[in-house]
Amino acid sequence: MPKGLFARSLLILTVPVLLIQIITIFVFLDRYWDEVTRRLVDGVMGEIAAITQMVTDEPPRYQFYEIQQASESNLKIILTSEEGTFKELEKPKFTLFNSWPYLVYKALDKAAEYKIDYPHQISINTQDRDVLIQVQLENQFLNYNFSLKRIFSSSSYIFLLWMIGASFVLLIVAILFMRNQIRPIRRLAVAADRFGKGRDIPFFKVSGSSEIRLAAQSFLDMKDRINRQIQQRTTMLAGVSHDLRTPLTRMKLQLEMMKETDDVKAMKADINDMEKMISAYLQFARGEAGEETRDVDLKELTQRAIDSVTHLDAQFILNAPAEKYMVPVKEMAIIRCIVNILTNADRFADMVQVTLEKKESSIRIFIDDNGEGLSVDQYEDVFKPFYRGDKSRNVKTASVGLGLTIAQDIISSHGGSIELDKSPMGGLRVILDLPL
Ligand SMILES: Nc1ncnc2c1ncn2[C@@H]1O[C@H](COP(=O)(O)OP(=O)(O)OP(=O)(O)O)[C@@H](O)[C@H]1O
Ligand SMILES: [Mg+2]
Repeated sequence: MPKGLFARSLLILTVPVLLIQIITIFVFLDRYWDEVTRRLVDGVMGEIAAITQMVTDEPPRYQFYEIQQASESNLKIILTSEEGTFKELEKPKFTLFNSWPYLVYKALDKAAEYKIDYPHQISINTQDRDVLIQVQLENQFLNYNFSLKRIFSSSSYIFLLWMIGASFVLLIVAILFMRNQIRPIRRLAVAADRFGKGRDIPFFKVSGSSEIRLAAQSFLDMKDRINRQIQQRTTMLAGVSHDLRTPLTRMKLQLEMMKETDDVKAMKADINDMEKMISAYLQFARGEAGEETRDVDLKELTQRAIDSVTHLDAQFILNAPAEKYMVPVKEMAIIRCIVNILTNADRFADMVQVTLEKKESSIRIFIDDNGEGLSVDQYEDVFKPFYRGDKSRNVKTASVGLGLTIAQDIISSHGGSIELDKSPMGGLRVILDLPL
């Protein structure tokens, strides 16, 4: 069974019809053609028997040349006679390519058997399309020559041609109609795929049969709902983060005016952490908002991300072939995602390597470091919001635990995937996969 809907529906449509036609052709050949040939053959054989009778009549009623003439002009059978006995002719054998002459031969032979009382033989010349029947009399033999047309029902050929022609017409009409039916489904699939990758779908129109229209309309509604939800979440998160900042600033000011006790110090540290968290929230919330998808060179984008973290301690190296990797993405979001991963690596390692690789339908970005890496059972947890590894808690620079969550969010909104692995450099390997 082929995979595509087009091929499948075409098969569903044509196979039964072709099957019926094949069966009809067989039944037709068996019954109709057999019957018609038999009757025609019987007729010709009867005429030949009658002529033979006239030739052998004792005493003769007609001259031989009179019989000859009558048979040629009235019956279209050419009669000649020769002295002696006829030479034995080769009998046809049944093969696939000469099944039709063979069947005619068989029919002729059968009819001759009970209509002609003298020794006889039959030969069919398919090239000249005529039949020779030789009848042995006492010391002469008669040659009857007539055209194959006399025993060949041409309507059967026309019938077969019609059957084959009709199948072709059916096939062509089916192909044309099916194509038009399948096109909207394919368009819907493309649109859904593009939406999943965070790209816009301005070309998409609701079209096709009512079921497909329904599916397309539902898809559009769903798309709007998802977009509205994202929008709502973003606005809310941005609002909350923004509103929290004001009281925090006020608290900070009040703390500044208090005496610098240990408690105050601790509170200041907490407030600093809270501020960091809030800016991380804001970053997260802004992640998807607003930005347009554009075709950009991923290599150049990665380089920009690396350039923006040069103030960090680690050494960053970019490995990529000379060609351009044009991918439709939200530029700022992807840069933010890569920067998040690079800053993580910087905290644990001093050497970071970024490698770009083109796959069949996607671009892969590998970010390797030579730090301590992570144990496999943490690979899932680190993507959860606010998850921080034990080591991170002890590091002086406060971390929130949103970096990888944001990175994952950005990558999935582009229809891609983010995965962790052990790096050949010893530390962690982050693999970004962005669909082309
Ligand atoms: N390159 C790495 N090597 C080892 N551990 C890592 C690496 N990158 C991330 N991790 C671990 O994954 C945890 C989650 O990372 P994530 O970026 O989400 O949060 P964070 O870096 O702790 O905080 P934030 O990025 O929000 O400031 C980190 O706390 C750290 O334990
Ligand atoms: Mg981080």
